[in-house]
Amino acid sequence: MDYFNYVDGELHIEGVAARHIAEEHGSPVYVYSAQTFRDHFAVLENAFAGIAPLICFSVKSCSNLSVLKLLVDQGCGLDVVSGGELFRALKAGAPADKIVFAGVGKSRDELVQAIDAGVFLFNAESEAELLRIDAVASAAGKRVKAAIRVNPDVADADTPEKTSTGGRQTKFGVPIERADVLFEAGRYSNVDVVGIHIHLGSPIPAAKTYLAAIDKVEQMVDRLEAGGRQIEFINVGGGFPAQYRTEAKPVCSLTDMGDAICTRLQGLKARGKHFIIEPGRSISANAGILLTTVEYIKQGWERKIAIVDAGMNVLLRPTLYGASHVIWPARFNRFGGHWTALPREDALADAGLEAIDIVGPICETGDYFALGHALPVLGGGDLLAIYSCGAYGMSMASQYNSRGRPAEVMVDGGKARVIRTRENHADLVAHELCGLTGAHHAG
Ligand code: LLP
Repeated sequence: MDYFNYVDGELHIEGVAARHIAEEHGSPVYVYSAQTFRDHFAVLENAFAGIAPLICFSVKSCSNLSVLKLLVDQGCGLDVVSGGELFRALKAGAPADKIVFAGVGKSRDELVQAIDAGVFLFNAESEAELLRIDAVASAAGKRVKAAIRVNPDVADADTPEKTSTGGRQTKFGVPIERADVLFEAGRYSNVDVVGIHIHLGSPIPAAKTYLAAIDKVEQMVDRLEAGGRQIEFINVGGGFPAQYRTEAKPVCSLTDMGDAICTRLQGLKARGKHFIIEPGRSISANAGILLTTVEYIKQGWERKIAIVDAGMNVLLRPTLYGASHVIWPARFNRFGGHWTALPREDALADAGLEAIDIVGPICETGDYFALGHALPVLGGGDLLAIYSCGAYGMSMASQYNSRGRPAEVMVDGGKARVIRTRENHADLVAHELCGLTGAHHAG
């Protein structure tokens, strides 16, 4: 579900022409649809209504303050993994009692900050970390709640290797067979260990992967409660899929995913447990696109190559994970005008399309968005839309090759508003100290 539509041969975002956004705010530019964020949050609320979880949006997927504020205004909580993300969450107005703090390597300073802010729950990843949380809480004279992130040794074969986190070979969590001891009564003076957290990877395209892990968690709850411990919270993590429309196999819809997970959790619900989920991409991926402009077309050995003004510094996913995004011109009247929407798979063989590489300007071979992609014949100056970039797009952007990060624009109710300005040359050197002054030191 989204609000990115072609009207008279031109891509519009909630009624605003993509071309106008690029003309006004430059290219490349990330463009988000506010209503898509709201709708996806509502879809998740409905899909998981059977366990009525606290939904904590995974800030790392799309961290702009305006995005966080929009979701907080819908009643959404936030999942943070660093002091920086916690700073963003609080600045966006998230109530501390709706913030969960995850992450494998929380520093002492981050713990001081989080305990001072009064976050709702820590997802602890090791015994050493629990000891540190306990020490910081004791020094602050506060009691805090923690869930243990367990590693259930469950992995989905279709999750990319680099983002699969539930298997025994990964660094994440405490092996589930070794975690019971961390729940022993009186072990920590200022931490109540009252929850179990899993996060299996990102994305997890099939419900069966969650169900296998939930079964192990339920057995763990049985063991702990038989031993007199009380578990209050089960955190199922994130990783619910977005529809990128480039997947080799169909992915589970959010409604089916929610149904299956809620059904499997009914036993724990009947025992009074409360639930948390940490969705990122299922809310943000399809709420954002990247607009990028063709700088040059050249003929390579095998194929034509379109060099665009965005590179791996702007959108890293294709380079890092081999991720595939739909790419299509934002305007295509001059190609014959017979496309009224994104092309269907079976239409790709139509005359008028040619295979072309879409590459960035960065000095690396891996700096491409697609190789041999079927597109209408392109020319310099054409504006392309790279779809489903709302998650892990801007949040993973860098200044590599000393290129500033692009602007971000939010469209809401027919109005486009800049929510992050484009970085300029002065931004590139803003933190560098070399004793230079004057004209050569931009600033
Ligand atoms: N909870 C935890 C503990 C996580 O580590 C993550 C993501 C999430 C929730 C949210 O996962 P989501 O619902 O967004 O799939 N950069 C990669 C994805 C890395 C995900 C890291 N952790 C990508 O571009 O696909």
